[in-house]
Amino acid sequence: MKYKAIIFDLDGVICHTDHYHYQAWKHIADKLGVYFDEVINNRLRGISRMESFEIILEGYDGIISDGEKMRYVAEKNEIYKKLLLDMSPKDLSDEVKETLEKLKNQGFRLAIGSSSRNAGTILRQIGLARFFDAVSDGNNISKSKPDPEVFLQASHSLNVPPEDCLVVEDARAGVEAAAAAGMDCAGIGDAAKSDLSIYKLNTFSDLLRVVQ
Ligand code: G6P
Ligand code: MG
Repeated sequence: MKYKAIIFDLDGVICHTDHYHYQAWKHIADKLGVYFDEVINNRLRGISRMESFEIILEGYDGIISDGEKMRYVAEKNEIYKKLLLDMSPKDLSDEVKETLEKLKNQGFRLAIGSSSRNAGTILRQIGLARFFDAVSDGNNISKSKPDPEVFLQASHSLNVPPEDCLVVEDARAGVEAAAAAGMDCAGIGDAAKSDLSIYKLNTFSDLLRVVQ
């Protein structure tokens, strides 16, 4: 086998939460009178909550204190967490589920490497709470993607060296983080367009072909 472990980004790879992020950020943007659309929302993939807010504030003319920023970001997260309660195992596609099971049966160690502090909730909602051998997320890192920390923590928890890990990502920040961690990366969606994605996945199950 080319790799011993596969580290998956969560949002945009295993399941899709962008529309929930969008709705929650839209509420905050409307409150501030800032223009916000799906194109801006797409720029928030893979980066932390506060960094996302800073991008939204590029369209804001006024002055906003750090304390206010913290309050808006906390409010966004409360809205987002309520929306996540609508998620269920139906939000995990058969293709993703079957591919993950096949990879596990083939002997790969499987982990999550996500910038989200809500990764545990999302995994629980979609029925994957106990599926992965390790979960590295926004709660155990001090720097988010494109910093490699989240993936290095996953490789450490799995006890598999970076060169034996493959990362699966949908965000450019995540592809850069994988490269910085010294890991090969398979890109899906937008990330497949990056030169740093060694493998370009048209669909999730293409993974079964590239890891052989
Ligand atoms: C993922 C998403 C980002 C989000 C980040 C933090 O990486 O792609 O859009 O900003 O997680 O999520 P959180 O749930 O901690 O706000
Ligand atoms: Mg993602």
